[in-house]
Amino acid sequence: MRLSSRIAIAGAVLAVFAGTLVFLDSGRKPHAAAAETRWESSTQCRDCHRDVYDEWQGSHHQISFTNPEVRALSEDFRLEECKDCHLPRPLAVTGFGKRTLPRRTNFDEGVSCITCHLGPDGGIVGRNDRPEVPCRPVRNEQFLAVSACESCHNQHGTTDQWRASTFAKQGTDCSSCHMPAVDRARQDGSKRLGRGHVFPGCHDKAWLDKTYTFDAAAIGDELVLTLANVGAGHNFPTEERHRAVDMMYRFATAASPGEWQRAYRFRMPYRDEATPVNPGNATGENTQLPAGEQKTVRVPIPAGTAAIEVRLWYRLTPFCGDEDPRSTMLVEKRIER
Ligand code: HEC
Ligand code: HEC
Ligand code: HEC
Ligand code: HEC
Ligand code: HEC
Repeated sequence: MRLSSRIAIAGAVLAVFAGTLVFLDSGRKPHAAAAETRWESSTQCRDCHRDVYDEWQGSHHQISFTNPEVRALSEDFRLEECKDCHLPRPLAVTGFGKRTLPRRTNFDEGVSCITCHLGPDGGIVGRNDRPEVPCRPVRNEQFLAVSACESCHNQHGTTDQWRASTFAKQGTDCSSCHMPAVDRARQDGSKRLGRGHVFPGCHDKAWLDKTYTFDAAAIGDELVLTLANVGAGHNFPTEERHRAVDMMYRFATAASPGEWQRAYRFRMPYRDEATPVNPGNATGENTQLPAGEQKTVRVPIPAGTAAIEVRLWYRLTPFCGDEDPRSTMLVEKRIER
């Protein structure tokens, strides 16, 4: 008999034997095989949780280590401390709510299924105890708490901003908004409720549009601009210090369309910035708009104004112009005089 055939037969015998073991075992402990699984990579979840996996794939969590914006600012991660949250070890390893530490594996998985879902004992954590399903998830309060997000999302105060908001008092937490309910199909075709894993934020125009109401009106001799933060559970903008929201206007006359001018910039400045964000603000003053609050700015309308144009911009970085893809126009209005 050729060697390859012998190997094939030996393999078949082993497979039958292993099958018997699983069969015998399944009478006592459901899915004993999963209990011994070392959960190390998001690819292990892919086949059974295809829809969740597809949502996460391409999300800012998945790209956190490959994201060109991060690569540029971290000098290709020569700044080692950037790996703490952009290529983190599982939360359970460093402690839910504590600052994460860097890992050395699965670079393209960034903030992965394992980062959030690995439990303290090496199993999977979730909302419910499910001993009957293959990955045997167990309920874990720390995993479900805001502190799990806080491990990485309080460097610039987002979690503290949320704690100070009415959303926190109502019990509307980070995942209530950022993980909306979605329908998932079970293998037998029935449906169950799941939670979105895209984690939409400031890179998504539709999501940004949930955040604000913006009014622009000419009242007497004044242009009155009001921005209200009605939809974010924290400041608008939040997190990264370079994010900015700009209220812009220009006064057109019969002769000229006028020059664009900034009425107000909402932003948390860097510590070493020498000039205030807006004239009249103190140097270093944070001008982000807290949840539930509004800001009104009045600008005198010059004589001879034929029309007023107003624009509201979201900028991923304040150091970019209107044509830059990192600038998103949220609202454009024209008021005839
Ligand atoms: C282990 C660290 C870590 C944990 C835990 C974590 N995140 Fe993130 N999150 C990140 C990083 C890093 C990014 C940005 C990656 C990038 O853009 O390259 C991010 C991005 C996001 C974004 C997208 C922002 C954008 O730019 O569009 C949202 C929303 C978000 N996280 C919400 C959450 C919520 C809600 C939780 C808790 C359920 C959570 N995150 C838990 C690290 C983490
Ligand atoms: C404490 C955790 C933490 C550390 C450490 C950290 N980041 Fe982040 N980073 C985040 C989170 C959370 C986000 C998502 C929030 C956001 O987009 O505003 C983010 C987003 C970013 C973004 C925006 C990406 C985009 O596409 O807009 C850049 C750039 C970035 N980080 C660079 C860095 C650099 C450079 C370092 C090291 C000097 C670093 N980060 C260290 C947590 C961290
Ligand atoms: C062999 C298939 C299989 C693998 C592999 C698997 N799961 Fe599951 N998982 C399931 C099934 C089936 C359910 C139950 C779905 C339902 O409710 O019908 C489930 C449920 C869950 C739940 C929901 C628990 C709750 O709160 O109700 C979580 C969380 C979970 N899995 C996470 C993971 C993660 C993370 C991985 C990868 C590290 C993984 N699973 C790997 C089959 C699998
Ligand atoms: C009431 C709904 C709501 C709640 C609660 C909420 N968010 Fe947001 N979040 C938003 C909206 C809307 C935006 C888009 C506007 C913005 O960027 O501020 C956003 C944006 C973000 C961004 C993107 C900011 C950036 O610069 O990339 C991150 C990260 C984020 N939220 C994390 C969190 C975390 C962490 C919590 C809990 C502590 C939380 N959110 C609670 C609605 C919410
Ligand atoms: C940033 C943290 C984070 C990441 C990354 C993450 N999850 Fe989750 N996941 C959660 C949280 C939090 C919940 C529970 C939400 C709730 O019930 O309040 C959850 C719920 C689930 C559920 C049950 C709800 C549903 O939609 O079926 C499954 C299954 C699941 N996750 C699988 C995965 C898989 C697979 C991956 C990787 C592809 C992944 N998760 C990545 C935080 C995360």
